Amino acid sequence: MNLKQHIDHPLFAIIGEEAAAMGVQAFAIGGFVRDLILDRPVVDVDVVCDGDGITLAQRCAARVGSPKVSIFKTFGTAHFAYDGFDWEFVGARKESYSKDSRNPVVSAGTLEDDQKRRDFTMNALAISLQASNFGEVIDPFNGLNAIAKGEIKTPLDPDITYSDDPLRMMRAVRFASQLNFVLDNESLEAISRNAHRIKIITQERITVEINKIIESSRPSVGFKLMFKTGLLELVFPEMHRLQGVEIRDGLAHKDNFYHTLEVLDNVAENSDDLWLRWAAIMHDIAKPPTKRFQKGLGWTFHGHEDKGSRMVPRIFKRMRLPMDTKMKFVQKLVLLHLRPIALTKETITDSAVRRLVFEAGEDIEALMILCRADITSKNERKVKRYLANYEKVLERIEIVEESDRVRNFQPPVTGEEIMEKFGIGPCREIGTLKQQIKEAILDGKIPNEHQAAWEYTLEIAKEMGLRLREI
Ligand code: CTP
Repeated sequence: MNLKQHIDHPLFAIIGEEAAAMGVQAFAIGGFVRDLILDRPVVDVDVVCDGDGITLAQRCAARVGSPKVSIFKTFGTAHFAYDGFDWEFVGARKESYSKDSRNPVVSAGTLEDDQKRRDFTMNALAISLQASNFGEVIDPFNGLNAIAKGEIKTPLDPDITYSDDPLRMMRAVRFASQLNFVLDNESLEAISRNAHRIKIITQERITVEINKIIESSRPSVGFKLMFKTGLLELVFPEMHRLQGVEIRDGLAHKDNFYHTLEVLDNVAENSDDLWLRWAAIMHDIAKPPTKRFQKGLGWTFHGHEDKGSRMVPRIFKRMRLPMDTKMKFVQKLVLLHLRPIALTKETITDSAVRRLVFEAGEDIEALMILCRADITSKNERKVKRYLANYEKVLERIEIVEESDRVRNFQPPVTGEEIMEKFGIGPCREIGTLKQQIKEAILDGKIPNEHQAAWEYTLEIAKEMGLRLREI
């Protein structure tokens, strides 16, 4: 295969010329070649040469207006940004690994040595930048075939590739999820055998891969593979615990792992928001620790939304996920996830809808996406009924929102106004008054307007023994 047409940026030919002038050969390699073939967007170009990569980078930069070259002597790499791409240069390497580190001992090698040390055959493809065969794909491990078949395979014995650098196990699963590829059997088995080695990888790197799985169009693919290979139990035990069905007195509950994955895929179809997807993962996370069997009634998971929301900070902290507003958002959605449908259990009252909108605030749309995604059942009649209920709640939210605007609730009567009109300083009564006004609005006793709220304030203030200031 020749990809001359696809590497039409003039810098590719310049790299070839400079390499020739140095008496070495240069190749585009790795993820860049893979993504070019898969027609995915590329921003990083990796170049390898069988000589000094740093000198090659400096010479090429000098040819295109001298962009600043950053050099990493320890790794023998150099890169510069040019024309919207990040160009990264390295000398071809041979690597040997020790048991307890993913950082190899590196020595100079040939192109083939360099291709061999890479994680997957699809990532070991190289494109020649030499004038004599410019654009030719060098594919010693049949990477093109793996791409055509949608397969993830390792160039060497998979036990070596995964054990050398256990992060590759997460990468394998992540690529399968991102590209909708399959892991070949040998990889599946080798990952299962080597899963325990994931412990030498830092949490930050593992989390990067988990987030990439979650951001893929069908994240369930990655999570099922993590489950199957034993990685999930090691990196996310709470999620692993969701799996399983228990039957007592002939009564079964659903498998909460597969249910969670269905919810996650459903959310992924409707939103790219990583944190909303995390909320889907966490929504039933406390089902195992809250599970009870009640004779004659069956399985219950009382309070799982509350316990689940309290589990979120611990899990986020351990996973090195942000502990800021994103965590709070996930917590809030987990806590509220049952509310929209629960509303329909009795007749839907406006005040219940108003309270929900008040509590969800800006996140009401996200909550409704999660709630919609959570309607999964094999029983079609049940699904139909829930969906009809869901639509009703959506409608009522819109109506209540339009008339009462409680989403970003601002008290229509402020503390300052109360102090001024009643001639009092800061005191407990002001808080009580404001609380009662808010409750009255949420209950629908009074509209969310200043005039009505002020009249109501006068009424309760009188009961509290407050008198208007005489002017
Ligand atoms: N690589 C590897 N083992 C790793 C990480 C990377 O062998 N643990 C090799 C692969 O050949 C990979 C290349 O280094 O293609 C570049 O790595 P990187 O930029 O991290 O990943 P990409 O494959 O480009 O993909 P992505 O950017 O999606 O992570």
